[in-house]
Amino acid sequence: MKTLTIAVIAGDGVGTEVIPQAKRVLEKVAHKHHLSFVFQDFDWGAEHFFRWGQMMPAGAIDLLQPCDAILLGAVGHPDIPDHTTLNGLLLPIRRAFDQYANVRPAYLYPGVKSPLVRPKGGDIDLVVVRENTEGEYAPVGGWVYRHQPEEVAIQTSVFTRRGCERIMRFAFEMARQRNRKRRVSSITKSNAQGYSMVLWDRTFQDVAADYPDIATESLLVDAAAMNFIRRPESFDVVVGSNLFSDILSDISAIIVGSMGLAASANLDPSRRFPSMFEPVHGSAPDIAGKGIVNPLATILSAGMMLDHLGITEAAREVEAAVAAVLAVGEVATPDLGGKSSTEEVGTAVLEKLA
Ligand code: NAD
Ligand code: IPM
Ligand code: MN
Repeated sequence: MKTLTIAVIAGDGVGTEVIPQAKRVLEKVAHKHHLSFVFQDFDWGAEHFFRWGQMMPAGAIDLLQPCDAILLGAVGHPDIPDHTTLNGLLLPIRRAFDQYANVRPAYLYPGVKSPLVRPKGGDIDLVVVRENTEGEYAPVGGWVYRHQPEEVAIQTSVFTRRGCERIMRFAFEMARQRNRKRRVSSITKSNAQGYSMVLWDRTFQDVAADYPDIATESLLVDAAAMNFIRRPESFDVVVGSNLFSDILSDISAIIVGSMGLAASANLDPSRRFPSMFEPVHGSAPDIAGKGIVNPLATILSAGMMLDHLGITEAAREVEAAVAAVLAVGEVATPDLGGKSSTEEVGTAVLEKLA
C-alpha cells in the first residue's frame, strides 16, 4: 500500500469547514485505490497568532518540506491586518517552496448557472496560469518616515527573465497537454508599465516561437477583464503576472458560477519541494461558522493534488463525482442557489464516489 503524507493547514474562517469535507473525499478514494493518506494537521493561522504572536512557528517550512503535498483551507481574520496574516502564512510557503506556477481552472459545469446569460455548461473552459513567486508580490520595498505625516511607502515589482520564461513555458506546455483550443493568452500592461511588462512581452514572443502549434494573443489586462465577460468561451490557457492573475482568477471563478467552485494548485513543477493545493477563495468571514460554505472548491483542489501525486484515476473520479452532484443540482449550498449545508454537499460527493 502506498502511503502519502499530506500536510493540512485548515487555517481560518471557512477554511476549518471546507477542509474536513476534502479529507472525507480523500479518505474515500484512498480506500478504493489501496492508498493511505497520513494527514499531518497544523493548527496555524489566526488562533495561533492570538496565542503566540505569529501565524506559524519558526521552523514551519522545515516541518512542511518532507510532506508529499500541502492542503490549505484559507487564511485571514477580521481582527488581524491582512498583510500580517498572509505574509505570515500563505505567501511565505509559496515562495519557500518555489511554487511558481499557480494553476486556476475555471470550467462551467453542466447544471451550474453562470451570471453571464449566454454560456451554457461546458462553454467556459479556461485555466489561469499565474506567476506565483515574483512580480508585484515580490517582498521588496520599505518605508520612509513611517507613521509620520510625510510617510512614504515603496513597493517594488520584480520581473526576471527566468521567472517570466518558466511560467510561460509552463502555460504553453499546458495548452498542448489540454489539447483544447491550443491557445495561450498573455496578460500585459506594457502600454503603461514600460519596463516590467515590456520584458514580459518580449519573453512571451521568444517563448511562443518555440510553440508554433499553439495560437497566441496578447491582451492588456483591462481589456482582458472585459473579454473574460464578453467572450469567455474564447479562452484556453491564460498566463499572467502574480497580481494581474490574482484579479482575473476571481473573475474567472464567478463567471463559472461561484467562488465556491474555484480550485487551485500552487506547483513547484521541478518537484524539489511539496506543492500546495487550496481553494481560490478566502476565509469568507461573512458566512464563516454557519455551515453553509461550499466545500467543492476545496474538494476539487484535493482532486488536483491527486493528479499531481500521480493518482490520476482517483483524481478523475473526484472530478466526476463533483460534476455529477452539480449536474443533478439537488444538493447545493446557497452560493449556487441551494439550501444544503457544507456537510450535505460533502456527503453527496461521497455518495457519487461510491
Ligand atoms: P473571500 O473569498 O473570503 O469571500 C468573497 C465572497 O465570496 C464572500 O461573500 C464569501 O462569502 C464568498 N465565498 C467565498 N468562498 C465561498 C465558498 N466556498 N462558498 C460560498 N461562498 C463563498 O474573499 P474576501 O472576503 O475578500 O476575503 C476574506 C479574507 O480572506 C481576507 O482576510 C482575505 O485577505 C483572505 N483571503 C485569503 C485567501 C487565501 O487564504 N487563499 C484568498 C482570498 C482572500
Ligand atoms: C489568492 C489570495 C491571495 C493572493 C491573498 C490572500 C494574499 O487572494 O490566493 O488569490 O493574492 O495571492
Ligand atoms: Mn485572490
